[in-house]
Formats: sequence, C-alpha cells, structure tokens
Amino acid sequence: MNTKATVLIVDGGGRGSVLVYKYARSPHVGKIIAVPGNDLMVELTPKPVQIFKDIKTTDLKEIIRICQQHHVDLIDIAQDDAIAQGLTDVLKKENFKVLGPTRAAGQIEWDKAWARNFMVDFNIPSPKFKVCFTEQEGIDFIKSQKESQWFIKASGLVAGKGALYARNNQEAQENITKMKTFGIKGQTYLIEKCLYGEEFSSFALVDGQDFQILGHAQDHKTVFNNNLGPNTGGMGCSSPPMAITNKIAEQIKIIFKKTLKGLALLKRPYRGILYLGGIIDKNGKVYVIEFNARWGDPEAQVVLPQIKNDFYEIAKATIEKKFSKIKLKRDKLYRIAVTAAASGYPIDSSQAQNKQIFGLEKIFKNKDIQIFGAGIRKIKKKYYVAGGRLLTIVAKAPNVALARQKAYNALSLIFIESNNLHYRTDIGYRDLERLYEGS
Ligand code: GLY
Repeated sequence: MNTKATVLIVDGGGRGSVLVYKYARSPHVGKIIAVPGNDLMVELTPKPVQIFKDIKTTDLKEIIRICQQHHVDLIDIAQDDAIAQGLTDVLKKENFKVLGPTRAAGQIEWDKAWARNFMVDFNIPSPKFKVCFTEQEGIDFIKSQKESQWFIKASGLVAGKGALYARNNQEAQENITKMKTFGIKGQTYLIEKCLYGEEFSSFALVDGQDFQILGHAQDHKTVFNNNLGPNTGGMGCSSPPMAITNKIAEQIKIIFKKTLKGLALLKRPYRGILYLGGIIDKNGKVYVIEFNARWGDPEAQVVLPQIKNDFYEIAKATIEKKFSKIKLKRDKLYRIAVTAAASGYPIDSSQAQNKQIFGLEKIFKNKDIQIFGAGIRKIKKKYYVAGGRLLTIVAKAPNVALARQKAYNALSLIFIESNNLHYRTDIGYRDLERLYEGS
C-alpha cells in the first residue's frame, strides 16, 4: 500500500513551482498534483507531478473532484483568486487538510478598501487614504488637495495591475477615470498618498494562533530597469534584504502580531501565508502598503529555498495548529531571482506567444541555479512561450554580487526566437550598492 502523501498545489506560476520543489523534497510526499500547474513542474521534479492545465484555480467543483478522486492528503492554496472564491472554505467542509486562509480572512487581500479600514481600526501604520465609490467623488477629492503624488488603487483583485501611480494631481484624476477599465473590481477604489522609501515583502506562516516569519525579500515590480515602466507581477527578487535590520524586523513582527490579533478578534482567524508588502520611510518607520493572503511571486522563489526544514512537516503542523513547535532552520546564503519574460509583457506580449525558447536544456544542467517554470509549453522536446512571465532563475551565493553573476550567466544562455526574451539586468541593485559601499 502506498503510504506516502499526495499534495495538491493550487497555482501555475513560479510560486507554485517552488512549492512543488519544496514538497517534492519531503520523504513523506509521494506524488504532487498542481492546478493548473505548468510543463516544467513535470519535467524538473524528481517525483511524479500531475498537472491539470485546463482547470481554473477558481473552479471549485473540479478541484474538489480532483481531491476526492486522487485521495489528496494536503492542499496548499497559493493563488489569490482561489482564496477570494472561498476554495479553502469548501475544501474544509469536505474535510480536506488545507493550507490557506478562508475567504473571510483573505478579505485582507481581495478587498483593499476593507483592508485599509481594518488597518486604521487596529492601529497598523499605513498611508493616508480615501475610499471612493464614484468617479466624481475621487475627482472632487483630488481637486480639494494640495499638489502631491498618489496611488489610485482598485479595491478588488486585478492580477497585480490595479495600483496606478500618479506623479501629480492631474495624473491622479486621469488614473481615477481608468478605474472603470477594471469593471466591478475597480468600482470601489482608493486614493492613497504616496509614501517614499524602500519597499520590501515579508512572509509569515500562521497556524490560526501562532506565527513565525519565514523570510523577507525585495521585489522589483516594474518591467524595466531603474523602476521604470508599468508594474508587473514581479521581475525579480533578492533575499535576505540588507534593509531588514533587527530594528526593522522587530517593527514587522509587531505589525504581524497586531494584524493577526485583529483578524482573530473579528472572528476571521488566519491560517496560511500572510504577505506584508511594506515600505521603510527615511526615519526608519515601517508602513504597510498592502497585505496579500498568499506567497509573492517571485518572492516565494527566493524565500522558500532558504528554509531547510521538511516543508510537508511545516505545512501539516500549521494545519494542526502546532507550527510554534517547529524550529525553523535556514541557510545563510543570498539569493537572486530573475524573471525571464516575453517581450511586450505586461502590456502586450502577443507577438512573442508560441515562439520557441532556446537554451533551456543547457541551464537545466547548471547546478549553480534553480529554475521555476511558469508560462512555458513543451511540445515534443521543444519549449515555447505560453504567457508573460516564463520562468524564474534563482541563484544562491554567499553574497549578492556572486549570486547575480550566476543568475545572469545562466540567463545569457537563453534566447527566444526573433529576440523575444526580456529581463531586468538590475535585480538586487540596492544590496549590490550596499555591499560595495561597505567594502
Ligand atoms: N511579487 C508581488 C506579488 O506577488 O504580488
């Protein structure tokens, strides 16, 4: 009889791929299922991986059916739409073991207006904001304000593209008029005063009662170097960031504590990964830009590999409210993740779709790096573009400079037909500057 566990992961990108890698390393796990998954998960994992490419993460009925048919022992929900649809709730009703917050706890991500009011109620440092329900309301508000920089944010989930930066009041008004392009997700929106400082992402794993911080990272959100161009899901990451000093880490811990206490008081106990997107201002004070009810992508690709514990044991302990009993072990290496994207991403990468990707076999053999697939299709031993973010290359080394060297060496071996590969060349630049300033 097969006594090994079957784990189902809900995600299809690089974040899901690193979870597949972590669970596959556990001797307790025999098989992994991913919905929708991706072709590289199957190819690069040394254990059986079954993917369901045509099933959406919000197709609750189909996911329940797969869990029942395959006798799934543990489900890890890594994707925001699935949380917002209540996948955790329905799976728990069916008595499955689930790592992921309920829809009620996940409101901290899928309803940004609710989240900001929650932060005010529980004294969690955040920027000044106004929630608006009509276009005119926002325009009138901006007209009443002094010249400033702003973020106009859709309250609902719009695949990381809902926060529009405005350099001045005129641009803010223009961005307010763009909220309708998000349909119902942008009907309620926020006007937030811009905060200035250094951004970071922190990840706490929470078991409904206790939590431990798994790690911190710095994402590079815009598509081009020097933080230029439109925001993307994430073009690369570095970890552990040197900006997270002990003092900053202490503030982050206090924010997590207040947040989890607040959610528990509202009878929405949190279980799963809670992602704090924060900013450190010039006085060293941490503010919350947003909370997400899931791992970041590509943050997961640099934080999870640092954890040396068996991740299946961690997930099981979290579900059983015993996570505080686990002593986390981390390696001391610095990691750089670079996202390889299709040119044109995130606006329009249609000309790159279905183009052939060359050189992957060479980097698969490279022991210096890890590869986490996303928008790639494999047909008869050849690889093709099938999305915007194609894969994440992660390199580790004793410091940022050496990690960058390995990551970019590997990237230089890849090419996409008709020159359709795009990646940022400045990932980790803040810590690179700090490293050289300190040397
Ligand atoms: N990397 C940002 C996010 O996952 O939302």
